[in-house]
Amino acid sequence: MEREQQPGRRALLGAAALGAGAMALSGAGTAVAAGTSGEAGTATAGAADSGGVHGLPVPAVIGHRGASGYRPEHTLGSYQLALDMGADVIEQDLVPTKDGHLVCRHENDITATTDVSDHPEFADRKTTKTVDGTKLTGWFTEDFTLAELKTLRAKERIPGTRQRNTLYDGRWEVPTFEEVLQWAEREGRKRGRRVWLHVETKHPTYFRKLGLGLEEQVAKLLRRYGRHKKDSPQFLQSFEPSSIQRLRKLVDAPSVVLLSTVTSRPWDFVEAGDPRTVADLVKPEGLKWIAGFAQGIGPDLSVIIPRTADGKLGTPTSVVKDAHAAGLFLHPYTMRNENSFLPADFRRGTDPNAYGDAFGAFKVYFDTGIDGIFSDNADTALLARADFLEKH
Ligand code: G3P
Ligand code: CA
Repeated sequence: MEREQQPGRRALLGAAALGAGAMALSGAGTAVAAGTSGEAGTATAGAADSGGVHGLPVPAVIGHRGASGYRPEHTLGSYQLALDMGADVIEQDLVPTKDGHLVCRHENDITATTDVSDHPEFADRKTTKTVDGTKLTGWFTEDFTLAELKTLRAKERIPGTRQRNTLYDGRWEVPTFEEVLQWAEREGRKRGRRVWLHVETKHPTYFRKLGLGLEEQVAKLLRRYGRHKKDSPQFLQSFEPSSIQRLRKLVDAPSVVLLSTVTSRPWDFVEAGDPRTVADLVKPEGLKWIAGFAQGIGPDLSVIIPRTADGKLGTPTSVVKDAHAAGLFLHPYTMRNENSFLPADFRRGTDPNAYGDAFGAFKVYFDTGIDGIFSDNADTALLARADFLEKH
């Protein structure tokens, strides 16, 4: 089974979530509202939602790892396609190199997403480590300088599921965060608007212990490119609340606490002996605590609508209502078009790699009142949003 197989308010960044100060529309933000794609252009926030910071469309479509349904993830090719499709926001996951540069990878283990195993000069870097309690064998970014990493090429993570994406294997390098910031600046100039990014710190406690703290580097680069302000077209996200707390001391860009499945515990809680689980954090008291230092949450979709024993969508929880009551927006993750990722009631046929009824699933999730969604398939998400907005 390939990795990534998983059973799995309408106002984006509502005024309540960010306060009146954050509602001021900058020139760039107003331009964002206009969008560039047909679907996005018609999907601007309605009158009831005009408090959305910068007027981002609602629900916002966040290109998960770019357009990872169609291109090897976290490559400039993937980011470009997501932006060209009209995604409102483009996501990066960040890990460090040995010499402290930030690169865009979903994890520090680059075995599955680069051609590192084909490089005999790096054969002796293969090693076994425990990352956030999980034992892994492979090649890790923190054992490579940036110059060394730049000799590698990115490849498709799940070639069995997304065979077509393998066409692009070897085409792109592993991008640095700074290269992405420069790309976003170039694209913004071309389009007459700023490009929104959604940046995640990966394994921040693990890396800090290695002397490779992420947050200071993220803040430094955001400041260099003018993305550190509360009205910057920039979200910050982490599964570790302490990483968001650290970032909040360094920059003012809106931040999001990611929440995995209800039984899980953030890794920084595990290390600190904090017994709280995600189930605790999505209770009103937990949400109030998060709202003390973040503007949003990014829950696993199962936190919004749990799946039944047979993998179908169950009854929505009160998390959307409770988070909004706490002044938090919601950017849940991750919608993917393939049957293997969809709830059982939206699968079509028996081929796990074939597309199921993604539009049907998007509709159910949008109906819960979420403010945005991460999707590997931004184009599908945009059409689903257009359908949704037509009816609301
Ligand atoms: O960051 C939102 C979503 O990407 C979280 O899951 O594991 O894909 O980074 P992951
Ligand atoms: Ca992520």
